[in-house]
Amino acid sequence: MVTIRVMEASDWETYRTVRLAALLDTPEAFGATYADEAARSADAWETVVRDRCESGLSATWLAELDGEVIGLVGSFRVDAEQTGAELVSMWVAPSARGHGVARRLVDAVLGWARDASLSDVSLWVTRGNDAAHALYVSAGFAVTGEYQALPSDPCADEIRMIQSVA
Ligand SMILES: CC(C)(COP(=O)(O)OP(=O)(O)OC[C@H]1O[C@@H](n2cnc3c(N)ncnc32)[C@H](O)[C@@H]1OP(=O)(O)O)[C@@H](O)C(=O)NCCC(=O)NCCS
Repeated sequence: MVTIRVMEASDWETYRTVRLAALLDTPEAFGATYADEAARSADAWETVVRDRCESGLSATWLAELDGEVIGLVGSFRVDAEQTGAELVSMWVAPSARGHGVARRLVDAVLGWARDASLSDVSLWVTRGNDAAHALYVSAGFAVTGEYQALPSDPCADEIRMIQSVA
């Protein structure tokens, strides 16, 4: 059975493994690159994960099956004044796709935003990533009309989606 749990600071090595697997698997889906993140030192990974877990402004969820992490998603606010949250880093391992794992990860982010009394959750999705686009539409997100170059590949672009949670 797949379980979803909030990442803790002590999960930094697991997070590094899964995040790098995601960047290798689907580079076109993410604003960051495998090369940049693979070059991070262990200390840097530990710090990044601790900050995400302890800032009070962000959280990461891990999907697990039989003790293996098979998916993740993150959400953050830049500061406490930001009324909406950003959904980032969504990835489900190819072998686990098509069974509702991503939908549960999205629901975890939406619940977190609601519990924090935030107004909305937004995200960027690469144009042409039909599976992710369909996931977000089915979870209640709508296209805003905004778009921008994909930071990891300026030849591609990504579109903005948003959902109110107030
Ligand atoms: C996009 C992704 C996260 C979906 O994960 P998943 O666990 O397979 O998705 P789910 O099983 O929860 O699907 C939920 C809904 O999303 C949509 N969906 C998911 N995969 C789809 C696909 N290949 N084609 C069309 N719709 C799809 C469907 O509406 C689905 O609902 P349904 O099963 O009732 O039809 C996964 O394919 C992935 O990790 N892709 C690579 C990374 C990526 O693109 N991340 C997004 C960054 S913005």
